[in-house]
Amino acid sequence: MTAVDRPIKILISEDEIAKRVEELAGIINSDYLGKSVKVICVLSGGVIFMSDLIKCLDLDIKIDFISVSSYGSDTKSSGNVKITRDIRDPIEGEHVLLVEDIVDSGLSLYYLKNYLLSQNPESFKVCTLLDKPQRRENDVAPDYIGFTIPNEFVIGYGLDYNQYYRNLPYVGILPEELI
Ligand code: IMP
Ligand code: MG
Repeated sequence: MTAVDRPIKILISEDEIAKRVEELAGIINSDYLGKSVKVICVLSGGVIFMSDLIKCLDLDIKIDFISVSSYGSDTKSSGNVKITRDIRDPIEGEHVLLVEDIVDSGLSLYYLKNYLLSQNPESFKVCTLLDKPQRRENDVAPDYIGFTIPNEFVIGYGLDYNQYYRNLPYVGILPEELI
């Protein structure tokens, strides 16, 4: 049995995601009308969301990537955040939109926000597919949120468990027995 054959409860379907991605892009398009935007994807979880989102953006955009580690193979943040892959180009004077898969404890986002703000972008906003506010350990707040979800460990559409399940086209809940 492969990872994707296992029974997984669907939390957000492929259609619901597609509809919401279009809605978010519509809001972003009007908020940034006439501006050029640097979209920075937080790897690896944000990659599917960012790919779908930017196809709906009707703006001049450039993309870059950043990667942080705070998770081992566990389902909880260690709080010990470090950059494992930095952005390629400077962001000074740019309108930065950081794209995340999920904001959970908020520790990664807090770190990333401070790190990127210290490089003097013209503006800085965060777009996350998922938000788990019940788990927040600080007051960091995303500007654009796809879905607010309950305190469950989710997988799919970029999100992993032990690096698996990122390719599922929906967001599902990882059954307890697989953790
Ligand atoms: P935070 O620092 O606790 O907010 O978590 C940030 C990162 O942890 C996210 O970008 C995800 O990569 C990962 N993460 C948090 N919750 C989940 C989840 O439910 N499923 C998969 N990954 C998660
Ligand atoms: Mg992530």
